This record gives sequence, structure tokens and C-alpha cells, in this order.
Amino acid sequence: MEAAQKEEISVEDEAVDKSIFRDCSKIAFYRRQKQNLSKKSIYQVLVDSVTTSEDGTRFKIINEATKVPLLAEVYGIEGNIFRLKINEETPLKPRYEVPDVLTSKPGIIRLNSCSGDTGNLVLTAGKGDLKCHITANPFKVDLVSEEDTVLSINSQSQLYFEHLQIRHKQRAAKENEKDASIDTSQQQENQENLGLWEEKCGNFVDVKANGPTSIGLDFSLHGFEHLYGIPQHAESHQLKNNTGDGDAYRLYNLDVYGYKIHDKMGIYGSIPYLLAHKLGRTIGIFWLNASETLVEINTEPAVEYSQTQMGSVAAKQKVRSRTHVHWMSESGIIDVFLLTGPTPSDIFKQYSHLTGAQAMPPLFSLGYHQCRWNYEDEQDVKAVDAGFDEHDIPYDVMWLDIEHTEGKRYFTWDKERFPNPKRMQELLRSKGRKLVVISDPHIKIDPDYSVYAKAKEQGFFVRSREGGDFEGVCWPGLSSYLDFTNPKVREWYSSLFAFPAYQGSTDILFIWNDMNEPSVFRGPEQTMQKDAVHHGNWEHRELHNIYGFYQQMATAEGLIKRSKGKERPFVLTRSFFAGSQKYGAVWTGDNVAEWSYLKISIPMLLTLSIAGISFCGADVGGFVGNPETELLVRWYQTGAYQPFFRGHATMNTKRREPWLFGKEHTQLIREAIRERYALLPYWYSLFYQAHVTSQPVMRPLWIEFPDELETFGIEDEYMLGSALLVHPVTEPKVTTVDVFLPGSNEVWYDLKTFAHWEGGCTVKIPVALDTIPVFQRGGTIVPVKTTVGKSTGWMADSPYGLRVALCTKASAMGELYLDDGHSFQYLHQKQFLHRKFSFCSSVLINSSANQRGHYPSRCVVDKILVLGLRKEPSSVTTHLSDGKDQPVAFTYCTRTSTLHLDKLSLHIGTDWEVHFK
Ligand code: NOJ
Repeated sequence: MEAAQKEEISVEDEAVDKSIFRDCSKIAFYRRQKQNLSKKSIYQVLVDSVTTSEDGTRFKIINEATKVPLLAEVYGIEGNIFRLKINEETPLKPRYEVPDVLTSKPGIIRLNSCSGDTGNLVLTAGKGDLKCHITANPFKVDLVSEEDTVLSINSQSQLYFEHLQIRHKQRAAKENEKDASIDTSQQQENQENLGLWEEKCGNFVDVKANGPTSIGLDFSLHGFEHLYGIPQHAESHQLKNNTGDGDAYRLYNLDVYGYKIHDKMGIYGSIPYLLAHKLGRTIGIFWLNASETLVEINTEPAVEYSQTQMGSVAAKQKVRSRTHVHWMSESGIIDVFLLTGPTPSDIFKQYSHLTGAQAMPPLFSLGYHQCRWNYEDEQDVKAVDAGFDEHDIPYDVMWLDIEHTEGKRYFTWDKERFPNPKRMQELLRSKGRKLVVISDPHIKIDPDYSVYAKAKEQGFFVRSREGGDFEGVCWPGLSSYLDFTNPKVREWYSSLFAFPAYQGSTDILFIWNDMNEPSVFRGPEQTMQKDAVHHGNWEHRELHNIYGFYQQMATAEGLIKRSKGKERPFVLTRSFFAGSQKYGAVWTGDNVAEWSYLKISIPMLLTLSIAGISFCGADVGGFVGNPETELLVRWYQTGAYQPFFRGHATMNTKRREPWLFGKEHTQLIREAIRERYALLPYWYSLFYQAHVTSQPVMRPLWIEFPDELETFGIEDEYMLGSALLVHPVTEPKVTTVDVFLPGSNEVWYDLKTFAHWEGGCTVKIPVALDTIPVFQRGGTIVPVKTTVGKSTGWMADSPYGLRVALCTKASAMGELYLDDGHSFQYLHQKQFLHRKFSFCSSVLINSSANQRGHYPSRCVVDKILVLGLRKEPSSVTTHLSDGKDQPVAFTYCTRTSTLHLDKLSLHIGTDWEVHFK
């Protein structure tokens, strides 16, 4: 064991030199595209080649200079989506088309076509308001709504396609005599610079088996100036202009310890999906490509100029703003989905129609998670667990990082530190708590380690270009990497989570997939060589960005399988791709214990949320470094109102369990976590909404207020669902925060003071260290728990409360979803309750929102708070469905116009009314 210990790598060994990461100027396909596009290559449609059938329209486009044809296909997809594919007509061998991301074959609908005047083509699909106009020469596609062009493709002539070629040396051999006259040394230098067949990255040489294969295309968005999406970057929510300075948004999954903020470099995950919004329309561009991708954005603002050519009469003309988006990928084909909206809510449905909806998380996973690298041993776990009880702080999940294993061999336990993992899990279980352990994709090269031996024997590792298994260094020392792109590997990997296979595991153990970009220490940019080889002989370059997606997919399947299909999994992943929402949660990796990282967690999570990943969070406290006490408190307060809520810290940091910062601060952290637990019924209902109607849980203001320009750039506050506006305090020593309350017809209630404001203004809110500025929107009803216990498990039967916030018309609506919190019975047996609450004409009604669901809940509503009730009622009576009426006591506060009902006993699952007279 000792020798093995020594081989292991520590965090100090791996402090990464940030200069290893490339900017655009060092990326050969970027340089090539820039060089070639300056020459403008023109493509045109071969008009005679157009065919339209049940499943799409096809035609050839040809490059004027090279005359090599490309095959274009246009499809209409259910839900008002167009798909455009462009590939080589006859590639030397198939080019990579990203599998496994689209939910099923997205329903293709027939395109109606008619030829326009000059051989141009007009395609219409379904009920959508947009038509697809294809211009033949030069090739251009426009999405047109009535007479208004919403989006144009290739209007900037940036269509770019590098064709697969015969390997240079072979071709050179064939043509050697012919080329003898060319100055070969200059040719070689040129080729190296352009990285055609080989490209240097630090000390590595990437050998390109198929030569240069990059693709690119431009999109012009007419009238749009606000763009969002393409996570993951430590950047603002609204995308920034970046053309010209080589500062494109990079989508390339990388392990960047303590990543720099306000930077467009790629970090752990990639979702090549961008949304654009303007008054009256939201659209989306989903670029389905898993190779390294760069996105340039350039907005031309609106201009108004005078036209004087028409004699003496000067006419004013306005040119709308336009934003050009240029996508470039190293490899694959052009496969792009145009989501036509028109509303943000439509866009979310369209995107989840393609890539799947957020998985319904088990309830425990919405509670608080306690992590650290590392909790040392069983004793430590026991003490930390007891600490929560002693300090009366609820929490649900204890986490174990890599040190819990035998020498970083996943699926094993360090026998000295964790001699009896089942006993430890039973302790947690007794308090309704869970355990999450880590499982990374690198597998220690050790013939005595059964996971390694079996994978080796079956050829389940990624291979190197030269043959043999790819070998790289990660935590355990020299390792090989499971090839999760192979369905057989995924099946086998998922079987490792079966209880008999995973010794010491129980059904309260869940999984964390880390380092799955994949991280390869000392590899090019700390990852795998692009010329490594996967299942089906695909080079790593083709699928780099989807590697982590596959690991989480296999893990989630494993957890489902171990329960014989009964239980919902929980899997946290660091790396992700479009569609990862189907498999669990994502966090923002190795952030730093600084205020700026707390602040940027908001836009980073908003961006993930609108790109489909509702279940996301950032390490509370900051992973790297030691947070000052005030920062830690503020981070808990912020994290309590973000979807995935986990405290985590790296190895060499000071311990930071919530009770280590003095009584006063323990109290503040306790309060923040308790607020989270009180709000869990609302969180869970929001996740259900995300699961069935695709609406994100955490929402930028522009989604809820799409007609209000002021909201489009806001990222220091956000909505949870459509009822709560949260403006976390992310700066030190502040005594006030400026909160923008949107909506001219809205009214907002401060949930601490019950003060209220009309929307459409910015208010200065005084804040003390115990203030979390949260506002409830008038017209909403939020379900809460009125008693908070040790964990979600303990709170299953605790009573509910309703927070009713009246709008200017004295009404409100809300809903509650509940089920057993862990199984798939909600799906298969319709075991759930979906209740609807409405307050109208002084009557609050609890009725069923979905008659098909049933769940035998014993819970009651014991408290109701009504905000904005202008007049004190003379009586309040409850009416039950069995006809029984009962007057109830109430307290009314004239100063704040609030009414409290207490000690009620109204069953959550039955119909009833409360009358306020
Ligand atoms: C990197 C992860 O980002 C971090 O959260 C984890 O603690 C370390 N790897 C060790 O596993």
C-alpha cells in the first residue's frame, strides 16, 4: 500500500500553471478559419438538386472556388423548430454526428415548399409563424415572420467546411514528383502554423489522422442585442461582444482549478446552445457539436441616418440593430437547431423537446449538503453529523471525497479510515440522512484492482493513437480512462453500482462524478490528447465535450438499476453537455473563497438554468482558500436560495463547519439553512414544473418580464419560479442594497418586514448581517413547511403553511406538488398530489390541480399568512368538503396589512376553503 500511496498525487503537486490554457490565437482551426474567411468563400445552391419528401428537404451547395459539393438538409421539427444539417456529400469516411443527446428521434413534420421567383425556396413547418427562405446564390437561409426577417444564416458568408483528406504523407508520396518544384520548407512552416496535420499544444503534438476538419457558420439575429447561454464560462449572464480581439467564447471542457472570472475560456462543461431575446421574441440556436467550439458575437447597434438623395426632401431611415454570431467547431458536421420561440417559455419547451427535461430530483438532494475534501474517517463523519444536531442545523447529506477510497481506487473503501461503511450509513439513515461518495473516470493502473483488471480485459479503456490503452496521470497516479462513449462500457460501469458489486454501499449512498472533462494531469491543457481513440475509432477531438455527459448517464443508470428501476438517482457531475439535465445535478467546480466568486455564482447559475440545467449550484464558502466569516455567512444565505446547496472546501483549508465561527454566526448560518428547509415544498414544486413543463427553477428577470427592457441585463438578482425575487448580498460591509422590482402592475412584499412596493422601481433595502433580501410577488401563493427538523426525511409529515401575497386586484394563485420524494411511483403509479391554491373574492381555495394523482399524505396546513389584505376581516371561517364550517382565530396587523392564521388543521390533500369576510 505504501508504494501506491506515494504514487498518488496531491493538490499541491497539481497547482496548475494557468498559462497552459490556450487562447484563440493558439488554436489552429481558429487561425485557419480567420485566414480563409478574410478571402470570403461563396457557396451557392445547385437549384436542380432540391428534393422535398416526408422527412425533409435536401439540396447540394457548392463552393465557387473548390467546386466540392456539400449536402444540406432542412427539417421541420414538432414544436416550431427547424433543423439544418450540412455535411460533405461524399466524405472519405463518415464524419462524427453527436449521438445520444436528442431525446428520441425528434418528431419530424412535413415541410411545405414552394419555389420563389428566382429559384429560391420557401419552406413552412406546422403552425409556427416563421417561414424558412432559402436563397440560392449566394447560399443564405432566412427565418421570416410575415415580412420581418428574424434570423439569417450565412448572410456574412462565413460558411466554412474543411473536407476530410487522404493523409498528407501518402498523398505527398503519390504526388512527389509533381510537387518537386514547390519550396517544401516554406510549405511545411505554413502547414505547421495552420495546424493542418499536426498541431502543437505545449510539449504535445496532436496528430490529426484526417487532417483539418473544421466547420463554421454565421447567424445574424435581426433586432437582437441581448444574448445568453453557451455555458460554461465564469462570465456575466448576458453574453458580451468579442469579435476582433481573438476573445471568442470557448466551449472546451477543462479542469481549471480556481478559474479566472470574467473570462471566456472554457471550463468544466459545454452546452452549445444560445438564446437571444428582444421585445416580442425569443429564439434559440442549438449547435449540436461535441468537438472544441468557439463562438464570436458582434452586435451592430441600431443607427438612424438621414437620406438626402431624394431631392431636397430628407427622409429619416432607421436600421435595426443586428447581432452576428459566428460558430466554429474543430470537427464533426454542421447540425443546428433553430428554436423559434416566440416566448421564453416556448423556447424552454422546444429545447427540452430536443434534449430532455430536468430529472425529478429526490427530495433529500434539495436539502443542504455537507462536503469537504476530506472528511477524514468514520469518527470525523460521526462528529460532523452530531455537530449539526448539537447546533440544531438541518442537513441531509454527508459527502466523502477521494480519500475515502483505498488509494483512489473508486468503489473501494480505505480500510483504516472507513472500516465499516455500512455502520456509518446506518447512523446517517437513522436521522433520515444520506451519503454521497466520489467516483471519477480515471482508473488506477493496478492489475490487482478488480475494476482495472476487468476493464482492461474487456478493452474498456480509451486507447492512445499508437494502439494500447491511453495512460495519463490523475489522483491515483498513472491511470487509464473508461471509454464511456461505448454503450457496453456504460452498461458494465452501471453494474458496478449494484449492491453486491459495490461492497459497503447501501441504498442511502449516492454518487459524485468529478474530473470527467476528463482531467489528465500534465496532459495538454490538463486534459486528454485529442488524438486518443474511442469506441468506433472516433478520435477524442470529435467527442471531447460529451465525455463527462456519458459518465453521469452511466452512473445514473447504475443507481436506477441497483434499485430495480424503483428509485430516483442522485448524481452530481462536474463536466456536462447539452442534455445532462436528464441525469442529475451540476456544480461550478473549483471556485475561490472571494466575494467576486460569490457574486459571479449568480450569472453562472442563471446561464446553466436557461440552458436546461436547473439543478445547479456553486460550492458554498468557495472551494479554494479560507473565506472570512462575513463572506461565509453571505455565501450560506445566497446558497440557500440557489438550486444545489452544498458547502465544500479543498484540502489545505481550515475546517469550516457552520458552528466554527462563533455563536452569532452559527445562528446566522442556521437561520439561512432553516429558511431553505422551510421553503422546500416550493423548491420541490418548482423542480416538478421544470420536469414536466421545462421551465427553469432559477430564472433571470427577463424570462418573467420579457417585455421590460430594464430586466434584460440584470444579474445580481433573479426569480425562483415566478413568485420569489431574490437579491443576495454579495458585497462586504454593506448596509443597503438596491433592489430592482420589475413590473409596472406588480406589487412586491419584503418577506422579512412585510413592507410592500409597487413594481417598476429600484428600492434601497437596509441590510444587516441577518438580512437575505427576498420578495414575494403579489398574486402568488408559496407553500412552505412550518416546522423544520433534522433533515427532509424527518420533515416528511411536518405541517405546511401557505404564504399568500395579494396582487393589486386582491387575488393570488399557487400550487404544491408532493410525492414520496424518492421513487418513480409518481410516474408509474401516479402516486403524487398536485394541489392548486387560489385566493379570489376573499376566499382561499385548495383544490386538485391534477385529478389523476393520489398520494396518502397525512400532512396538514397549520398556518396561513396573507400579505396585502387591506382591511381587517370581521370573521374567518374554514369550509371543509364534508360541509363542516368552522370559525378560526386570526391576528391582523393594520400597519403591514397582514393576516395570520395559526393552529389550523386542514388536510393538504383534500379540498377546502377559507373565507375572509
Ligand atoms: C476537484 C473537484 O472540483 C473538487 O470539488 C474535489 O474536492 C477535488 N477534485 C478532489 O476530488
